[in-house]
Amino acid sequence: MTHRGEPTQAIDFNDENSNTSANPTFESVLGARLSRRGLLRGGVGTVGTAVLAGFGVSACGGSDDPVVPAEKLLGFAAVPKSLADVVSVPAGYTASVLFALGDPLAAGVAAYKNDGTDGDFDKRAGDHHDGMEWFGLGTDGKRNDSATERGLLAINHEATTDEKLSSFFLHADGGKSTLPRPAAEVDKEVDIHGIAVIEVAKTAGKWGYAPSSALNFRLTALSPIEIAGPARGHAQMITKYSPDGTRTRGTLNNCGTGKTPWGTFLTGEENWFGYFTRGAADDAARGNDKSVTSLKRYGRNQGAASRHGWETGGADDKYQRWNNSKTGASANGSDDYRNEMNGMGYIVEIDPYDKTRMAKKRTALGRFAHESAAFGKVEAGKPLSVYMGDDSRGEYIYKFVSTALWSAADANAADRMAVGDKYLDSGKLYVAKFNADGTGTWVELSLAHAAIAGYAAYGFADAADIAINTRLAADAVGATKMDRPEWNAVNPANGEIYFTLTNNSNRSIDPTGSQYLPDAANPRAYTDMKGASKQNGNPNGHLVRMKEGATVSAFTWDVYLFGAEAGADKSLVNISALTADQDFSSPDGLVFSKATGICWIQTDDGAYTDVTNCMMLAAMPGSVGDGAKKTLSYTKADGSKLDIVTPVGKAVTESTLKRFLVGPKGSEITGLAETPDGKAIFVNIQHPGEGTAMANIGDATKYQSQWPANAGYGAGKRPRSATIVITKNDGGRIGS
Ligand code: FEO
Ligand code: CA
Ligand code: CA
Repeated sequence: MTHRGEPTQAIDFNDENSNTSANPTFESVLGARLSRRGLLRGGVGTVGTAVLAGFGVSACGGSDDPVVPAEKLLGFAAVPKSLADVVSVPAGYTASVLFALGDPLAAGVAAYKNDGTDGDFDKRAGDHHDGMEWFGLGTDGKRNDSATERGLLAINHEATTDEKLSSFFLHADGGKSTLPRPAAEVDKEVDIHGIAVIEVAKTAGKWGYAPSSALNFRLTALSPIEIAGPARGHAQMITKYSPDGTRTRGTLNNCGTGKTPWGTFLTGEENWFGYFTRGAADDAARGNDKSVTSLKRYGRNQGAASRHGWETGGADDKYQRWNNSKTGASANGSDDYRNEMNGMGYIVEIDPYDKTRMAKKRTALGRFAHESAAFGKVEAGKPLSVYMGDDSRGEYIYKFVSTALWSAADANAADRMAVGDKYLDSGKLYVAKFNADGTGTWVELSLAHAAIAGYAAYGFADAADIAINTRLAADAVGATKMDRPEWNAVNPANGEIYFTLTNNSNRSIDPTGSQYLPDAANPRAYTDMKGASKQNGNPNGHLVRMKEGATVSAFTWDVYLFGAEAGADKSLVNISALTADQDFSSPDGLVFSKATGICWIQTDDGAYTDVTNCMMLAAMPGSVGDGAKKTLSYTKADGSKLDIVTPVGKAVTESTLKRFLVGPKGSEITGLAETPDGKAIFVNIQHPGEGTAMANIGDATKYQSQWPANAGYGAGKRPRSATIVITKNDGGRIGS
């Protein structure tokens, strides 16, 4: 971001470890001492690891400590893999719970009882905390990008813990798991989705949030939101709620995030299609028109059931909107919700500093299962680039390039949403094609492309049709199917773009049905054992990275890192030769620190969870092309050979990749925001205890997790998603 100060220390990946002597560092000595204290206090940790054992545990040597030793990034001791029901961080660090499901964020809202009887969720923390961004506040309560001890956190509340239909920890008896769903349960569940903005501050050395700050607010799955960009007012956006197609209600399944150079929050709508139902004979009701092709491509065949049955909450419009069937007689959809799903699936822009401004869905950035939205290098006089992934098996990687050229004065404009209109409502959308030789092409998605204009499977009408049906346009031009693109992040040191590809069960060297062969950018297909069960395809995931070329359509790429178990075969599986201090599976959240340059990698895994809970690793990557080509030699079932040659980045070492955190049972680690000085990071622990069976709702001893209650936070024993804050006991930067 151009309006941020430059990092206080130049980032040079080549000399981080110029002192190769065996001399102990000051912080490793201090860390060992604090580690023993942490163990005494917590009593449940792993040796050599500080454990989050209580709300607001404050270690000695806090931020008032004037002695900050010479810094060595990744100087901490790796956190071991763990199945314990705790948050583990390295010795010398403290993690505290800040903001958990149900915590009040408006004046007069009662403390969370956490027994399923609480209400008012539109004034409390939502569920399944996910992506998150920091927005600094000055002493006047206004935007201040250099503030380090007071700010707003904008937090995604992605989803909820559900075994059957209901969000079961939210209801006293677990809720009703058959249809129709009670209106009161549906209302709660709608309210725990969306986003939260909360004020946080460090006071007397301790971080907390302000429960009754006037700056706090929520958006839920019912909040009015404006449609902006090419799809605004389009025929496919017309609904009973918005007959002119300019508005919709709610943002849903918010996963990854972004932060604009002008100080607004971007949130990605991911698995929204699952919340809608379609009638069993809806294809014929629609006259089998092209909307049927669209609905199928976005995961809604006729007869599809909705995830929570919200459409059965009653006759009220707010329930009926979840029925995406043609039920009305109108020609244009102004009397039903046949087009309602077209209002979801976007990057949504929100002004975190002004809750009176209506959020906007930026449709020019395309419609798919959005994760994060990361800006490329921001340079005056040049267009802005935003990188995005579509998280489903075999989906694509995208780039938006603004029509408007960046003007540095816009970074501090008073009307932030107007700046969003300028840069995010007009531009070109591209999809990535990865070539086997390490080059790639960004293909523009427009009617000027003959393959889109003439696409037989779907008749594209105009630019809005491409914005709404982006996946079909990308199909038309032959984009590269990826192993589930999750978050992406841009390396502040060189502008290269990193994508997590979390896993893909559809890769096979002997494909049948919907499976496909591995390729250079998605080169693995193997079997991993989880206990006695086989996991096929690419069960552990990998990270690719891209470097922009001389033109807007050219890039080069390599595979930065492969997830794997340390003990797995090094020729086809553990290609990055990960050790026990580094091994991971299913990378998902991905954030570069602008303060330290550390690349934080978070996991949302189900493959390695027989051995370890989900985790976060710190990495100091190099750059595209710093490694060499590798050949993966497969033998197919018929005995023939299949060789995949792929460019792989420079091998990691213990100085360039290290496990920093392991979460509680059943959780994924996701979302990371930092203060600009790099001395505090905020991380989300999502869905602890999600492996609990609904039948056990009445017996806390049978919950898979009791975190964060077992860490001393809050009432009750039901597990809760939560934001934690991590600081270094010597006052240093996180990751040193
Ligand atoms: Fe919400 Fe694809 O992770
Ligand atoms: Ca395994
Ligand atoms: Ca995720």
